[in-house]
Amino acid sequence: MEFSIKSGSPEKQRSACVVVGVFEPRRLSPIAEQLDKISDGYISALLRRGDLEGKIGQALLLHHVPNVLSERILLVGCGKERDLDERQYKQVIQKAISTLNETGSMEAVCFLTELHVRGCNTYWKVRYAVETAEESLYSFDQLKSNRVELRRPLRKIVLNVPSRRDLNRSERAIKHGLAIAAGIKVAKDLGNMPPNICNPAYLASQARQLADNFSGYITTRVIGEQEMRDLGMNAYLAVGSGSQNESLMSVIDYRGTAKPSVKPIVLLGKGVTFDSGGISLKPAESMDEMKFDMCGAAAVYGVMRVIAELKLPLKVIGVLAGCENMPAGAAYRPGDVLTTLSGQTVEVLNTDAEGRLVLCDALTYVERFEPELVIDVATLTGASVIALGHHLTALMSNHNPLAHELMTASEQTGDRAWRLPLQDEYNEQLDSNVADMANVGGRPGGAITAACFLSRFVRRYHWAHLDIAGTAWRSGKAKGATGRPVALLAQFLFNRAGFRDDE
Ligand code: BES
Ligand code: MN
Ligand code: ZN
Repeated sequence: MEFSIKSGSPEKQRSACVVVGVFEPRRLSPIAEQLDKISDGYISALLRRGDLEGKIGQALLLHHVPNVLSERILLVGCGKERDLDERQYKQVIQKAISTLNETGSMEAVCFLTELHVRGCNTYWKVRYAVETAEESLYSFDQLKSNRVELRRPLRKIVLNVPSRRDLNRSERAIKHGLAIAAGIKVAKDLGNMPPNICNPAYLASQARQLADNFSGYITTRVIGEQEMRDLGMNAYLAVGSGSQNESLMSVIDYRGTAKPSVKPIVLLGKGVTFDSGGISLKPAESMDEMKFDMCGAAAVYGVMRVIAELKLPLKVIGVLAGCENMPAGAAYRPGDVLTTLSGQTVEVLNTDAEGRLVLCDALTYVERFEPELVIDVATLTGASVIALGHHLTALMSNHNPLAHELMTASEQTGDRAWRLPLQDEYNEQLDSNVADMANVGGRPGGAITAACFLSRFVRRYHWAHLDIAGTAWRSGKAKGATGRPVALLAQFLFNRAGFRDDE
């Protein structure tokens, strides 16, 4: 979709459609008011007749409104004026976009960006509009033999801003919004791709492609099983040992600055392309959803795209820890003791707690980059879904300032997270009487004990852990990857790069 910015009055737009807001109950927004005056009260008369209450989720399309140059006016319900916050604003945009798409306007001038949205300046309203529009147009239909093409799809949106002073920052907001939307889209595509296609080799090929597309900024190195054996990454290897697909860890190295004083930020994504549970086999119901167990890696991949596209002046290393967890004669078993890359030993009590085994070796591996900080992203525990549901990502960290930075980014983007504690008391649950630790800590506090397990492999850097088991995909009829937490992580890096929203 094409976006542009303009500052001008609504009645003068020669467009297929002008989009304006109506508040509840039947109250015109300032722009709608202008159109109403010009048209001698045409719109307010409709509202008085009760055609549109102004609730969120409502929309009304008008044709040939007197004295208005554009062919159509789309009135969109915005709810109660003083309740309009970032979340509702996104719903309003979504309704506008879906209606425009259904009704055959191929271009539109949108005045919703002029609404007063609590806590949002023009930059954010424009950026959210772009991200939301792109997101609501997403569908995963690559594998359908009959793709439904819209007859007259929406192609072009002009976002109107109040004053010419806003033009520059709005152009930036479009650029940022489009980059983030593209990152979310590739993360969704990777997540949605079925596990017979999206296997560790597929992840690696995507990682290599990124280096081809952004040569000069990105180099990719793929570490296979032989190299893992030479290094001693036995926990990672154990997880993939039952699979016909080779375990492959892709290391995507982005350099947006040559300054030697800048240390890299490492983003590490769990890339289990299918998690059957292994010998501790999962029940059949919803097992298909375990194709999403690589959504951490998909998010890291998406973020790498965003920052390469915008040429952030940072060093960032994205690691996609790819492998497949299958039951087989060669599979690892409950009872096995593994010697990790760190030298610590782990007793496997459940082969379905595989994510932490993959990640623990990767966490040790990335020490070699002397990172400024490491953030891992993983669909790690069902327990995090029990704790926070499907709305918030669980955040755990050994460093308060880093946790605060991530919380700030999560609030800025609406890609929300909530911190869970990481305290020593929980560590006892991981005690084993044959090895240094067990790979599971029982049901109580399962998201926290998983993070505690990881924390034992964190040395020499600040670290945060995002458990996205509840937020990375939706189940049921709308089954599909969400692309979270690409927006959160991209914003975290924007903030680190000194991007500002008010200049
Ligand atoms: N990938 C799963 C976590 C998961 C489960 C995410 C369900 C979303 C929905 C992970 O590998 C796993 O199986 N975790 C186990 C750990 C347990 C055996 C300690 C879990 O959460 O049940
Ligand atoms: Mn598992
Ligand atoms: Zn898993």
